[in-house]
Amino acid sequence: MHMHRLEKMWLTFGLVMLFVFLGVLGVSAFAMGLQPPSEHHHMIDPTKVSETAPFDKPGIQKVADKEYEAVMVAFAFGYNPDKMEVPVGSTVHFTVTSQDVIHGFEIPGTNVNMMVIPGEVSQVSHKFTKPGEYLILCNEYCGTAHEYMATKIVVK
Ligand code: CUA
Repeated sequence: MHMHRLEKMWLTFGLVMLFVFLGVLGVSAFAMGLQPPSEHHHMIDPTKVSETAPFDKPGIQKVADKEYEAVMVAFAFGYNPDKMEVPVGSTVHFTVTSQDVIHGFEIPGTNVNMMVIPGEVSQVSHKFTKPGEYLILCNEYCGTAHEYMATKIVVK
């Protein structure tokens, strides 16, 4: 009889713990759902790219010694700016968005490869240790001239 009561007590305790656990899970999921998506994905209005900083002024600029920030806009079928140049050994922080459809952003010969999605800000950094002309290519099919969509960054 004693055992029976003890078992019941443990069963009750287990169930209470289960509900507490589920409650915590539910509350945290709810709290996460309440956070604005902009905090997670850097959302912008894809129809107002040309008016939204920093994309209102696409281009590359020096931010520190051997460190550059490139603000770029992908569109069908190209990238703005259409040519960039940095000294060898520079690290470039790319900040990219799309003003129309999903594009790619790949620099062959490097590990830079990301998607550029309308309404989202994509970021990647790369240190260019060897001189040369690096192509930046679109690797997401985006329309008739997709295969010609490219820009380049000259490292010297
Ligand atoms: Cu842009 Cu393919």
